[in-house]
Amino acid sequence: MDQSESIVVRVNDVTKSFKNRKKDPSAQVLKVLDGVSFELKRGSFTSIIGPSGCGKTTLLRIIDGLTRPDSGEVIFNGETVVSPPERMGFVFQQFGLLPWRTVIKNVEFGLELKGVDPDERKEVAQKYIEIVGLKGFESHYVHEISAGMQQRVGLARALAIDPDVLLMDEPFASIDMQTREILQQQLLQIVKGAVQKTTLFVTHNVDEAIYLSDEILLLSTHPAEVKDIIKVELPKDRWSYDIRTVPEYGELRSKIWKFLEKEIMATSGFGYSAS
Ligand SMILES: Nc1ncnc2c1ncn2[C@@H]1O[C@H](COP(=O)(O)OP(=O)(O)OP(=O)(O)O)[C@@H](O)[C@H]1O
Ligand SMILES: [Mg+2]
Repeated sequence: MDQSESIVVRVNDVTKSFKNRKKDPSAQVLKVLDGVSFELKRGSFTSIIGPSGCGKTTLLRIIDGLTRPDSGEVIFNGETVVSPPERMGFVFQQFGLLPWRTVIKNVEFGLELKGVDPDERKEVAQKYIEIVGLKGFESHYVHEISAGMQQRVGLARALAIDPDVLLMDEPFASIDMQTREILQQQLLQIVKGAVQKTTLFVTHNVDEAIYLSDEILLLSTHPAEVKDIIKVELPKDRWSYDIRTVPEYGELRSKIWKFLEKEIMATSGFGYSAS
């Protein structure tokens, strides 16, 4: 396999600004992304960390073709993204489930849009429901299951279309800490084990990013630039021991925190700079 085949997504010099009030010519333009470039290797897990409002969701939306960049491009499987590609899966912070549908019907949703016939849809949905550990809950409605279970439905729905890349925007942010740790472990076992997916994961949580990732992109306050790409060289089977006891873990954690502290304080009006 040559180098270019092992790259699933290439983000090339992407820039994006928003005008607050589109019809008002005097409205201020906010530059959100400034020359963002990086690539996702097949099978890798990459997290994005950056201050609140720096442009992480905008970047994910651009990668998924939901928002167009002002300049630069996203190449997915060798082609420029101009609209949402079929083989990209998206998992949202607020789950984005359809409350009037059962668990299995939510998981089938993406397959329905692709025109897959009902029997195959059901079979594929069942497979992913089992992978995310929801066997027995197929006929439940969204309000009948917990937040952690709802997000597992969101994950099963995204996986059911067999995506080449999984985009996850703070998927565990509104889930309690204990459930969140279990979900992190299950996610890693799924995307590094059961189904092997290239994953791009946005989080505010430094520990979550280290635990899950092969690489962590550090984005600056807007306009967001990639300030650093940190390689996490900890063993792959991280779920099998307490990663926090490894010395490299502490070093990575303090490096990322120092970066965040500097970015947040520098723009918070305190005039503080952690050098
Ligand atoms: N459609 C839009 N029109 C105008 N401004 C927008 C639009 N989408 C995002 N913005 C602005 O762009 C900036 C970046 O937003 P974005 O949601 O990408 O940040 P984020 O890093 O995901 O934030 P958070 O950490 O809070 O999730 C924000 O100031 C936001 O108000
Ligand atoms: Mg966001």
